[in-house]
Amino acid sequence: MIREVIVGLAAVVLLAYGIEFVFAWFDDPREPPRVKPTIPIPILGHVIGFFSMGLRITIFSEFYTIGVLNFKFYITHSPRITNQLAKSKVVSVRPFLRSAGRIHGTISEEAYATFDGHLADHFSDRTKDAMAPGPHMDEQNLRMGQESVVEVDALLSGNRKEMKLWEWSKNVIMQAMGVGLFGREHPFKDKEIADAMWTWDEHRSGHIFGFDPTGKGYAARAKVMEAMKKYLQNVPEDASQMLRERQRVVLEGGIGEEDAYKLQATLSNAYFNTIPTLYWTIYEIYSRPALLEAIREEIRNKALTQVGEDFHLNIAALQTTCSLLLSAMQETQRIRHAQVAFRMVLEDVTIDRYRLKKGYHLHMPAKPVHWDPSIWGAHVNHFDPYRFVPEIEKRPARIQKILPSNFLPWGAAPWLCPARQFAATEIMIIMALLALRVDLAPADGSGWDHEPPLKKVEISSLAHPKLDAPLRMNPRQDGVGNWKVEIGKSKARIVLTSG
Ligand code: HEM
Repeated sequence: MIREVIVGLAAVVLLAYGIEFVFAWFDDPREPPRVKPTIPIPILGHVIGFFSMGLRITIFSEFYTIGVLNFKFYITHSPRITNQLAKSKVVSVRPFLRSAGRIHGTISEEAYATFDGHLADHFSDRTKDAMAPGPHMDEQNLRMGQESVVEVDALLSGNRKEMKLWEWSKNVIMQAMGVGLFGREHPFKDKEIADAMWTWDEHRSGHIFGFDPTGKGYAARAKVMEAMKKYLQNVPEDASQMLRERQRVVLEGGIGEEDAYKLQATLSNAYFNTIPTLYWTIYEIYSRPALLEAIREEIRNKALTQVGEDFHLNIAALQTTCSLLLSAMQETQRIRHAQVAFRMVLEDVTIDRYRLKKGYHLHMPAKPVHWDPSIWGAHVNHFDPYRFVPEIEKRPARIQKILPSNFLPWGAAPWLCPARQFAATEIMIIMALLALRVDLAPADGSGWDHEPPLKKVEISSLAHPKLDAPLRMNPRQDGVGNWKVEIGKSKARIVLTSG
């Protein structure tokens, strides 16, 4: 019996090697070279690698191919090649945005066929317009800022001595962004729906491969979609321009109501990207007392007015003048970004000296670019909060200019996140409110761990922490009072390095 099993296994392994060999045989020699899986199992090695390492892919060379059966992923981390890819018209993110509607949104075959070409472009373009600085963004930012104040007030009320940073980051973003995007009566006000959204997010990388053995992620998704359906049947007056525009465009474009709800529900990537960015920004800043003090000073001098016990935080001033806070947030993104920009090759094309074949995927991991000493200088591995400040003399590496193509947390041009101004504003507001109102330190008195363990598999731009960070809270006496946010100068724009 044992002999039969061994022979059977040997036959399977030989067959697997044979299959891999045959597929590799048809490669064009000009294509980026194939690499073997780090886990040396034919066919399954790369898949197991993905589930154990997530998107933090091992770097083999400037451009290489990972093949699984007859499918190929081209992977590059070279800024030179990334720049050329950005200019190519036949390398596009659009098919992924469309298939996200099908994989995560479960839209029907019919809607999938309709949501293409002009309609998909129109949908993206209207999203961009609606998220560009303007009166509607001012309103959205104000709503979101006001809800951030409510959440920080709640945190500091009732003599609480401790908070859990990850739990709190999740909640504050769910609520503040919920109010900004969907209005005060947003679907995630209901804790059960907010939790379901989170459970869905945690299962998304599995859903890409149809993997959710317990069905927990699918059940959570169904709950979110039901809530979204209920909400969209009667959109409130204070919903964002973006939400209204997206709904209008898909309905006018011939997508049925049921599928339109589902497409709106896929916007949840707003949460799983923003929450870790906020979490790590708070973490990196609070774990450096001198930096925290300098940021407090900057906000007090540039964006805060105080009359007696009334504090007014000016959003436009925060966006346009608090360059150290912005720099520290961007340095957090640089050092902690773990995402890959996905593209599809629409036609056979030659980029640099490499031939890429139609229909295959292209991945551009940001980390090798963000950690390249030829771009960022010898101190590339160090968190330097001054790296992005406008004054060159304060920058450690004295870099003259950081090119947008070298800083990729919002994606790679021309496909940048349309909500980057909104999300960055939200993080700066919440960070400012916390910095000025509360001292935070690890609850067990052990000091900040600069290398806390991370979760491996998820699809958000910054890795999630493996464990929450329990923190001791001490409200600051000089921040006690009535807090408000105000817009200040209308249509303000943050000068993000990515453009
Ligand atoms: C810190 C928070 C965020 C980060 C780091 C982030 C990052 C990204 C990235 C990397 C992409 C893909 C670009 C590419 O493929 O190269 C993207 C796309 C997108 N993001 Fe964000 N995002 C954030 C917050 C948000 C928020 C708050 C919203 C919505 C309110 C949003 C809406 C979108 C949309 C709609 C797209 C698809 C773009 C298109 O249609 O072309 N994101 N984002």
